[in-house]
Amino acid sequence: MFERPAREPIAPGAVWLHGFALADAGALLADVQLALQQAPLRHLVTPGGYRMSVAMSNCGPLGWCSDERGYRYAAQDPQSGRPWPSMPHSFMSLASRAAAAAGYADFTPDACLINRYEPGARLTLHQDRDERDHRQPIVSVSLGLPAVFLFGGPRRSDRAHRLPLQHGDVVVWGGPSRLAYHGIQALAHGTHTLTGPCRYNLTFRCAG
Ligand code: SIN
Ligand code: FE2
Repeated sequence: MFERPAREPIAPGAVWLHGFALADAGALLADVQLALQQAPLRHLVTPGGYRMSVAMSNCGPLGWCSDERGYRYAAQDPQSGRPWPSMPHSFMSLASRAAAAAGYADFTPDACLINRYEPGARLTLHQDRDERDHRQPIVSVSLGLPAVFLFGGPRRSDRAHRLPLQHGDVVVWGGPSRLAYHGIQALAHGTHTLTGPCRYNLTFRCAG
């Protein structure tokens, strides 16, 4: 039978870690719900005035925000004026182990974006470039329903790989791939035992 390799290179500096977060998924999802009690999911508006189909929140010292004025990282949730929930130990531990497995030692993120996709939600091709230090990689954890991850190159027009991400998969990109365009195709309908009809994604970054 065909078996997926545990550690699949995608591009220079970018690695797909199949099932890396499987053993931690239950604990991660429990901590997601605790964080969301303090900082509820919301649909942000882009600088162009569009309401994003993905619902977002954050935990950790810095949180990614978008509104009519632009994209930025902020230490407070603009909705409540309070600091974002602290980064759970389960998140920090998983993120630094995944980065190490992908070849990036000593990864200590200060920002975790929590994304929730319901069927139909998508994220158009974009670069993660609002962080101060691009020497640090990005660690992205998939939980719940599967989704097709598009992973291209440094130009929007570069041909994109289509990676069918499953529950528990982790993608790490940095170095020559740090500014690669990426996105998520519209989520298909489905139900997952642990998350119901949705997919969660945790994106860990060194933002400040
Ligand atoms: C992102 O690019 O912020 C999220 C990617 C994902 O949901 O897998
Ligand atoms: Fe992104």
